[in-house]
Amino acid sequence: MTKLLYITVNPKRDGKLSKGMQIGEVFLNAFKLEKPDVEMVQMHLYDMEIPEMDIDLMYARAKISFMGRTFDELSEVEQIKIMKMHALADQFIDADYYVFVTPLWNLGSPAILKSFLDNLFIVGKTFINTEDGPKGLLTGRKAIHIQTRGGIYSTGPMADFEFGDRFLTTALGFLGLEVMDSIIAEGTDHFPKQLPEIMAKAKQEAVEKAKAMAKETVTISN
Ligand SMILES: Cc1cc2nc3c(=O)[nH]c(=O)nc-3n(C[C@H](O)[C@H](O)[C@H](O)COP(=O)(O)O)c2cc1C
Repeated sequence: MTKLLYITVNPKRDGKLSKGMQIGEVFLNAFKLEKPDVEMVQMHLYDMEIPEMDIDLMYARAKISFMGRTFDELSEVEQIKIMKMHALADQFIDADYYVFVTPLWNLGSPAILKSFLDNLFIVGKTFINTEDGPKGLLTGRKAIHIQTRGGIYSTGPMADFEFGDRFLTTALGFLGLEVMDSIIAEGTDHFPKQLPEIMAKAKQEAVEKAKAMAKETVTISN
């Protein structure tokens, strides 16, 4: 069955309190209308146990990926932590479509998203190193990023200061996913009077982009 992974990166549990998740809901509803048989699975990162790249995981990863050690040669704690990392990566890999919802926080994304992504970069599983450089293995899959921003970064003096959307979409592209688009609702805090207009525009865009993404066929070869 076709699967869409809905990854929400916000400590707000109630989606109605998050402007990003409100736009995300509109996206999911429009996607489902176009592709009713899709299975939607949510990963709310703040409700998950995300392995931290600590000293055990760092060494376990290096031993297996670069030092030719086998799983059995790892310490017990390293084995447990690397298994959790691979389990999370397996959960991520097992989808066709990906919708990320994040707010811009201090010029980037909430730190938990970086912790999550650190679990996905696994040599031999999600990317390989070739003579021509790294090559992502998660090809065929389609992703979209919905981001909310208090200020304006698409133009003006802050244009070079946005590293949330830029990092996430670059990282996903590195792993081989096709990032179709980003839906940005910006100025949510700095222009409160225009908020209804900002949200209406983003929701309209979400409907259009959901329809477009649902029409895209996903062919996964690995
Ligand atoms: C900790 C924190 C840091 C933030 N940093 C920025 C920032 O650097 N730039 C910006 O434009 N907005 C920033 N904001 C504002 C949020 O991006 C904005 O309120 C957004 O609409 C929140 O989306 P949400 O309603 O989905 O949580 C920050 C908000 C928080 C809580």
